[in-house]
Amino acid sequence: MRTELLKINNLSEQADDIARAADIIKKGGLVVIPTETVYGLGGDGTNRDSARKIYEAKGRPSDNPLIIHISSPEQAEKFAHTNKTYYKLAEACMPGPLTVVLPKKDTVPSEVTGGLDTVAIRCPSHPTARAIISASGVPIAAPSANTSGKPSPTRAEHVAADLDGKVDMIIDGGECEIGLESTIVMVNSDESLTLLRPGGITYDALCCVCETVNISSSIEGVLSENERPLSPGMKYKHYAPSAPLVLLCGDENKVLEFLRSEQENKRSVVLCYDEEMPYLQSNMILPIGKKQDIASHARNLFSALRDTDKLSPDIIYAHMPEKDGLGMALYNRMIRAAAHTVKEIK
Ligand code: TXA
Ligand code: MG
Repeated sequence: MRTELLKINNLSEQADDIARAADIIKKGGLVVIPTETVYGLGGDGTNRDSARKIYEAKGRPSDNPLIIHISSPEQAEKFAHTNKTYYKLAEACMPGPLTVVLPKKDTVPSEVTGGLDTVAIRCPSHPTARAIISASGVPIAAPSANTSGKPSPTRAEHVAADLDGKVDMIIDGGECEIGLESTIVMVNSDESLTLLRPGGITYDALCCVCETVNISSSIEGVLSENERPLSPGMKYKHYAPSAPLVLLCGDENKVLEFLRSEQENKRSVVLCYDEEMPYLQSNMILPIGKKQDIASHARNLFSALRDTDKLSPDIIYAHMPEKDGLGMALYNRMIRAAAHTVKEIK
C-alpha cells in the first residue's frame, strides 16, 4: 500500500485536504491523525472491517479495545449509555486529554471494543483531529499510531517509521503538545470513577469533578498472575526501547556522579535534565527538559525513548519522576518502559 504523507500548514486553508482524509475514513481506509496527546491510527469506529485493519496495521492483539474519538461530548449519546458524571467530566475536561469508559450501545461493533460491553470515548482538542472527525461524520476509532509495544508517536516521523506502507494516509500536524496518552477513567454504576490510566488530566483535576476517584491497581503495572486488568492494554509490554532502561533515584549529586562513572565504563545513554548536559558525555545524552519542567519531560519522553535505539547503547538511565500531578502519568509510562527496574544510588 502506498502511504500518502499530508502536512497541515494552515488548517483553515486546507479544507480540501481534510475532506480527502475524511473520505478515506468513510470508505473504510486508515488515516493517522495528530492529537494533543499522541498520534492516533484512525478508522471508522462504526465499521468492523476498519477495526480489523487497525489491529492488523498496528500488530495489536484484538482483545485490546480501541478508543473512539468524537468531536462534541453529546455525540457520546449515540454510542454509549451516558450519565450525570459523564457530563460533569465533559464540562470540566472536554475537549481535551480525557477518555471516559461507559457501557456501550450496539452502534459500536464488538471488534472495536475487543468484545467488552463498555466503550472508551474521547473528545480531542486538536483542531486537525476535530476537523477530520466532523468532516467524516463518524466517530474515529484510534489507538496510538505506533507498532504494538513501541513508544507512542509524538511526531509524524515516528509514525512513518512504524506504519509507512500500512495505512492510506499520515497527517503531519507537528509535535504533539502533551506527549503522553490521555487519562482514562471508568464511570462506575454508583457514578464514582476509577482511574485506569493517568495522563494529561491529573488525579487532582478528577477529584475536583467527582467525590470518589479510585485508582486501579493496574496503574503500577503489577498484576498478580490471573488478575484481569480493567483496562486490557495495561497487561501488555509497552514503550520498551531495545536496551534495558533503569530508573535512578537518590541524592541529585550522587546520581550525577554515578552517571558520569557509568558513561566511562559502559555504552550508556542518559535521559538527562538540561542542567546536567555540561557534566555528561554529549554524544550519549538525550535531554528531556529542565529539571522542574515536568510538562517538557512528558512531551519529550517517547521521542527520547525512540532515539535511544539509534545510539545502540548497552543500557539506558533516566531519573525516577515524582509521582504527583502530571508526574503520575510520566511515572506510569517510565516504570513500564523500565520493566520496574529501579536503582537507588546511595
Ligand atoms: O491519547 C490517547 O488516548 C491516544 C490518542 C490517539 O487518542 N490513544 C490511545 O489509544 O492511547 P491506545 O489504544 O493506544 O490506548 C487505549 C487504552 C488501551 O490500554 C485499552 O486497553 C484501553 O484504552 N481501553 C479501550 N477501551 C477500553 C474499555 N472499554 N475499557 C477499558 N479500557 C479500555
Ligand atoms: Mg497505545
